[in-house]
Amino acid sequence: MHPVEIKKGIYNVGVVDWNIRDFHGYSTYKGTTYNAYLALDEKKALFDTVKKPFWSQLLHNIRKLVDPRSIDYLIVNHVEMDHSGSIPEVIEAIQPEKIFCSAMGKKALDAHFGSDRWPLEVVKSGQQISLGSRTVTFLETRMLHWPDSMFSYIPEEKLLISSDAFGQHWATSETFDDEVALPELLRHAAKYYANILLPYSPLIQKLLGTVSELGLEIDTIAPDHGIIWRSRPQAILEAYDIWSRQEARRKALIIYDTMWQSTEKMAHAVASGLAEEGVSFKMMSLKHNHRSDVMTEVLDSRALIFGSPTLNNGMLPTMADMLCYLKGLKPANKIAAAFGSYGWSGEAVKLITQQLEEMKMDLLEPGVRVQYVPDHDALAQCVELGRKVGRAVKETT
Ligand code: FEO
Repeated sequence: MHPVEIKKGIYNVGVVDWNIRDFHGYSTYKGTTYNAYLALDEKKALFDTVKKPFWSQLLHNIRKLVDPRSIDYLIVNHVEMDHSGSIPEVIEAIQPEKIFCSAMGKKALDAHFGSDRWPLEVVKSGQQISLGSRTVTFLETRMLHWPDSMFSYIPEEKLLISSDAFGQHWATSETFDDEVALPELLRHAAKYYANILLPYSPLIQKLLGTVSELGLEIDTIAPDHGIIWRSRPQAILEAYDIWSRQEARRKALIIYDTMWQSTEKMAHAVASGLAEEGVSFKMMSLKHNHRSDVMTEVLDSRALIFGSPTLNNGMLPTMADMLCYLKGLKPANKIAAAFGSYGWSGEAVKLITQQLEEMKMDLLEPGVRVQYVPDHDALAQCVELGRKVGRAVKETT
């Protein structure tokens, strides 16, 4: 990737990772990018770095613009290794006069790299530094999504360098939102939100309020992953407002796996009940859908209905994986129900139900359990479960 000028004298010098397919459990079928920004002014500042295997590409991009040794400041908005992995090599190459980070960023840099020898300067929210004709204002965004996270705002350019927030895991040759299709861009942004930022939704609501109270003028949002929002920054701000309020649509999601198709037959019967109530639904078999794609659909679903047969006194491993992942991402405002077939012991529905209770979902009981193969009456119970969920969805959306 070549450096791309995003504002006069400010460049994206980051890299594209076309081949990554797993990002700590999140399926990145379309790769990702690690964006890093270089502002050329009386003082030259580099905002973040890239994942370690890409450090030479980052330096190559910088060299196309300036001698790395002429860079004065390194600004570390986030210490997760996809942005900080190259820091030792970059510091060696540029020998910065100062490295700016948050207090928690200093702690994280010390823990990751033993940074005693580096010229770290801790900054707080609202603190400004001058680059010459431009200033950088720091805005700490603790737990969005690490304790160290912060934004850098350049008011003269109306530019928000937003670290992980507003990003997408999407490798492209394009840089800006007006160069790609907005619906596809928002789909990638929704998947990213559902799989990374969802647990921090209350903090995002607060942050959006703070940005509004501060009256920050923003015409470009430059995240550390994916496409830069220069034409429609409002589109992603509005989407984050909706997602962080965890507003659901009139939609239910049937998440299931099956051994010998009994639970699958039950899933189809539950779907019939939802259809009879006129509620939109999706069926997601865990054999055919990655957990992170299921999460994208969870984001705007009002009801989640889980189906698993019993295996060895438990649920199928795919369902256990899904529930573990879901629990960590803390979805709120969900109606839930469970169903499943069994041979002789039949614990799966009870175990799923326990987990849904722990996640504080609004549980519709009882779930439906069927021994071996569902007959007409058993399928009628599943249809009724679907109707019951459908009615609850309609009453609450
Ligand atoms: Fe893209 Fe939290 O790292």
